[in-house]
Amino acid sequence: MSLLTELMRKKSVEGLQEDARNAGLKRTLSGLDLALIGVGEIVGAGIFSVTGTAARNHAGPGIILSFVISGLACMFAGLCYSELSALVPNSGSAYTYVYATCGELIGWMVGWDLMLEYLIGAATVAVAWSGYLVNFIETVGDTTLSKSWTNGPVMFVDGKFLSGAECADCGVINLPAVFIVAFCTFVLCIGIRESATINHVLVAIKIAVILLFLFATFGLIEPKNWTPFIPPATEDGKYGFSGVLKASTQVFFAYIGFDAVSTCAGETKKPSRDVPIGVLGSLGICTVLYILVSMNITGIVNYTEIPTKAPLATVVKLRGMNWLSILISLGGIAGLTSVILISLLGQPRIFYAMAYDGLLPPAFARVHPKYRTPFVPTLVSGGVCMIASALLPLDVLGDITSAGTLFAFALVSLSTGILRYTRPDLDRPFRVPLIALVSPLGFIVCMALIVLTGWETILRVLIWMAIGFLVYGFYGYRNSRIRTGAPPPEGAAPSLDAAEEKLKVEKA
Ligand code: ALA
Repeated sequence: MSLLTELMRKKSVEGLQEDARNAGLKRTLSGLDLALIGVGEIVGAGIFSVTGTAARNHAGPGIILSFVISGLACMFAGLCYSELSALVPNSGSAYTYVYATCGELIGWMVGWDLMLEYLIGAATVAVAWSGYLVNFIETVGDTTLSKSWTNGPVMFVDGKFLSGAECADCGVINLPAVFIVAFCTFVLCIGIRESATINHVLVAIKIAVILLFLFATFGLIEPKNWTPFIPPATEDGKYGFSGVLKASTQVFFAYIGFDAVSTCAGETKKPSRDVPIGVLGSLGICTVLYILVSMNITGIVNYTEIPTKAPLATVVKLRGMNWLSILISLGGIAGLTSVILISLLGQPRIFYAMAYDGLLPPAFARVHPKYRTPFVPTLVSGGVCMIASALLPLDVLGDITSAGTLFAFALVSLSTGILRYTRPDLDRPFRVPLIALVSPLGFIVCMALIVLTGWETILRVLIWMAIGFLVYGFYGYRNSRIRTGAPPPEGAAPSLDAAEEKLKVEKA
């Protein structure tokens, strides 16, 4: 067999469906359940933090349009995720879909790339979490905390990395970020049931706080702040329509997470109906919430005065509503915690799926004998996330996360179209309408948004992918089970889904 044929070897859709059936999951979740799970996983640093920077530095009130553009890209990808996850309801998400449609090498690259979405995404949210905690303590305690222990040693200002004496805001290590990642890792190691319970409470708090922000600040809006809606472009490349597009790539971060809904496809009562309701419903709800929040935030103060750190909490403080600032900070802390928790829950599941296929060391597929959790990949994920959040700034992490996720979304959109063409015979519980349009459009819009993240971000992602390519060459290729025909790794449960998801369903 030629090398190229080997690299293109696919897992069969029927085999994956068989795996999903053997997982023996109970079908208990409705479309509404999935939509609420989605909202819980989507709403986080994007709205609580990134909105401020994107509006102030790039789009002004045009940020509202940026949310619409990003929402549209996610709708295309969301439709494709719905089709594939209803067809192959396994937990490996994009990694599994692409492995089944485009073959092992591209599947591996997507799995590797998903680390940017989950691991670096969690680190981004941890840095935002730290900002909200500091704001909360400083407001309640009427004090100022030392930057040395609440900021990382590097900042990214006006396209330049600053550190040392030239960086007034730089610190030594972002300790609050390290703490929250350590806490979530610990919870995830001891059990999914505990994680799910904590998550439900956190999600309820964050949605309540966003609604409170909307109602309480409605009266503070001064429509003059919305003019000009798109500020004229400046010489240093800010604002104008290109600024709105640049902001779209930044606020895209706010939509990340809806794909996690697709991993629940195997537990839904009727995937053909419930998965699209879950994915598109959660995207729809979040798009409306985001547009309303950005209307309020850009209406309360002029866009040039929007605070970039903890913007929702700080903007109401500027208007003398300290009580609301405290509540929003608490909601932000709760909301961001749930996103970190879910991201660090998702990453080990993808590592697990890759290790089960032989592409990562078998230890990544081992389940803890007592807690039934994939503790090795959970600890590795937590460790890497801790280091990134301790040292790196929010903007850089957020851009890398967005570009990495967009790449996965682009390939999922493409794979859906390819599979329709190569396997028209498959019985699809949900079919994307107008696939000939949606699949290429999803791919093109996601790739266009990647280009807009800028060459530095693209370069960082390419370096990451090159490292992934080397790891595949030295390990994955040699140990791939589809190639070697080796049995599953010793100590791995036949399906991590079965172990984890049953607990989740029992809880639900
Ligand atoms: N969408 C998630 C957030 O905004 C990643 O935090």
